Amino acid sequence: MTTTPWTPTSWRSHDAAQQPTWPDALALDDVERQLRKFPPLVFAGEARSLTSALSDVASGKAFLLQAGDCAESFHDFNADSIRDKLKVILQMAVALTYASGVPVVKVGRIAGQFAKPRSSSTETQGELTLPSFRGHLVNGEGFTKQDREPDPTRLLTAYQQSVATLNLLRAFTKGGFAALHQVHSWNMSFVKDSPEGERYEQVAGEIERALRFMTACGIDLAAEGNLDEVDFYTSHEALVLPYEEALTRQDSLSQQWVDTSAHMLWIGDRTRQVDGAHVEFLRGVLNPIGLKVGPGIDLGELKALCELLDPERTPGRLTLICRFGRDKIEDRLPPVLDAVTAAGHPVVWASDPMHGNTFSAGNVKTRSFDDIVAELQTFFQICRAKAIWPGGVHLELTGENVTECLGGGDEVKELDLSTRYRSICDPRLNASQALDLAFSIADLLRN
Ligand code: PEP
Ligand code: CO
Repeated sequence: MTTTPWTPTSWRSHDAAQQPTWPDALALDDVERQLRKFPPLVFAGEARSLTSALSDVASGKAFLLQAGDCAESFHDFNADSIRDKLKVILQMAVALTYASGVPVVKVGRIAGQFAKPRSSSTETQGELTLPSFRGHLVNGEGFTKQDREPDPTRLLTAYQQSVATLNLLRAFTKGGFAALHQVHSWNMSFVKDSPEGERYEQVAGEIERALRFMTACGIDLAAEGNLDEVDFYTSHEALVLPYEEALTRQDSLSQQWVDTSAHMLWIGDRTRQVDGAHVEFLRGVLNPIGLKVGPGIDLGELKALCELLDPERTPGRLTLICRFGRDKIEDRLPPVLDAVTAAGHPVVWASDPMHGNTFSAGNVKTRSFDDIVAELQTFFQICRAKAIWPGGVHLELTGENVTECLGGGDEVKELDLSTRYRSICDPRLNASQALDLAFSIADLLRN
């Protein structure tokens, strides 16, 4: 395959799918100029650490838990919501590690997950047709002309919100909140009395006993920094390329380019065209890259994408996030696994059991817990049969007590959906459903 030299702007000579039509090009230029001067959110060294952690996943020594909102919101920006998302991810990681003995690499869809691809660029209600809502990085969700007009100053707000979110995440994960002896405190009040909350309490109790046992044996746990701190990484879909380009910087040590907007970036199922701008942009940055693989993937295309994004066959560089749907996975996953394995890419295989299982109930989008579990079960089965490590999961969830997905231990029913449906985009698992799912995944990992 021939490729022209990469630069942070080389994507501009490729077609970019799913870009908003900005009404004022000069206003966008001005925002880009400002962003280029702003400090980086993450460092090259951190992105490299994540690649290294993911290389352990690729070789079957660790498991990837990537999770968070479908779309972060400018309205729902506060310390409690960040803390509760972190809590539920930490709880899930404990459930997974405790059951399987495998370390969990924790990556949030957070601190930058603001842009959404849409199936149609406009939305019509009655007589009125307006641009579709593309996430708070671009416009507002209200169905008014004013809300829907793409506004480049939102890129600055998104940057500021990402900075503050990441700052709090760093404080929580390095400042004692995520210390293993806090394991009980992550269980939220509304989860505690549910069956999965109780199962979690049991695990937490056993962990505490183990810690006490080790202290009694004379092991100095305070000296074991690993128990007090957690590595937590950020990720989002790299969709709006002017934003990503403006935050891409040259690492002074290696001269390589790093997209400092997040540790890991992924390419969505709608923007993975081999000649497209998103693939062109991400092939040149050193960050670990995710690629969504949906039922429409062509195997030749997939091999070309792997070659472009992982030409050196670097373990941990590329995560293939499979999102086929429970009815299609059995058919589509095996040839995908075979093609990539034959081409020699040491990728992380992850399952996104959310995006292939969305359906409408009344006037809202939802997903059923059973479909999600079913796709995961099939993912594990097929990988295992081919001696491939089922390396991770990619989930949409929140720490709040929402009613957006059906089923789970608490049994959210169709009639309940409207009670606390708060997502501005796809339906998310609530904290109980997320914990319930973690225990199901733990069972799959153990078997
Ligand atoms: C998403 O992850 O929110 C998303 C839009 O996924 P996909 O690109 O797989 O449809
Ligand atoms: Co989504």
